[in-house]
Amino acid sequence: MSVLFSPVVIGRQTARNRILMAPMCMYSARDGLAGEFHRVHYGARALGGAGVVMIEATAVEPRGRISDQDLGLWNDAQAEALAPIARFIAEQGALPAIQIAHAGRKAQDDPRPIAPAPIPFDAEGYNVPAAMTGDDIAAVARAFADAAARAARAGFRLVEVHAAHGYLLNEFLSPLTNTRSDAYGQDRARFPREVVAAVRAALPDDVALGMRVSAVDWAEGGNTVEMVADYVRAIAPAGLEILHVSSGGLVNVAPPRIHPGYQIPFAEQLKTATGLPVIGGGLVEAPALAEEIAANGRADLVFLGRALLRDPFWPLRAARELCAEAAWPTQYLRAKR
Ligand SMILES: Cc1cc2nc3c(=O)[nH]c(=O)nc-3n(C[C@H](O)[C@H](O)[C@H](O)COP(=O)(O)O)c2cc1C
Repeated sequence: MSVLFSPVVIGRQTARNRILMAPMCMYSARDGLAGEFHRVHYGARALGGAGVVMIEATAVEPRGRISDQDLGLWNDAQAEALAPIARFIAEQGALPAIQIAHAGRKAQDDPRPIAPAPIPFDAEGYNVPAAMTGDDIAAVARAFADAAARAARAGFRLVEVHAAHGYLLNEFLSPLTNTRSDAYGQDRARFPREVVAAVRAALPDDVALGMRVSAVDWAEGGNTVEMVADYVRAIAPAGLEILHVSSGGLVNVAPPRIHPGYQIPFAEQLKTATGLPVIGGGLVEAPALAEEIAANGRADLVFLGRALLRDPFWPLRAARELCAEAAWPTQYLRAKR
């Protein structure tokens, strides 16, 4: 019996299997609006058998975009453009999910990005950010809440707050980027906790809420997995139901010694330390590895990024390889051997 292909409960939602399409920016939107490309791209992964299809980092305000081509959810027209995508994903039996995000100092196309402190990202082409004022902090928390409410109205059943990869909320969590002396610097989990609380309050009770973190910064003086476990324990009571575990992105360094599943030990550590269900992954391509991760309870769901870009039908192919039962689209049943 495959565990990878068994259902999993996330808050008050259930996914048909434990394969989650990782959020991946496609930089293909105009004015933050989803278009034909997004409908086909996400729809194909739902047809392909993923349990959860998560829409890429979607900006909660214009200055929170990584690039001007990012998706957005700061107005109702953007929610209306996403609604048919959520509906199609759900009609195929997958759980429609979306990551809501603010790029902070990594807003590459913004001449005056915002961040906890005026420290630029250490790569070419990044502007020096302005330190956020109290008003900025309140406005961004509000923008996250409003975007979450729009996501729920558009039909998404899992909303993920992006606090990984060196974007705004990750910048608040790390000592390398949060050098503030106020309450938001003394307690680095404070702003992400306020955002999660505001998002939870804006969501209907049955819509699940998650957060993505970078378990480590891969940098001297940066976050360790133990520090991140403490932050998550401080944030979770504000309403987290699942934790998505990635790593890096805060500073411009490559992780050492990567191999298939290299981030799974972080997922295991954070699962044990926080008691939350976790989504783990990174360089997972072999179905047997995904099955091993799920079967041994090392992660409750396995995220797949590039493997699903290479092959939208990875889940249906994996089911066959693992001799597991997967729900094929009825239109394709003549191809199921
Ligand atoms: C094209 C591309 C875009 C990405 N955009 C996002 C994003 O929007 N949000 C996010 O949290 N991670 C993003 N990531 C990271 C992926 O979600 C994932 O963690 C990473 O690709 C490692 O998983 P993989 O080895 O299965 O691809 C992106 C990765 C790729 C390849």
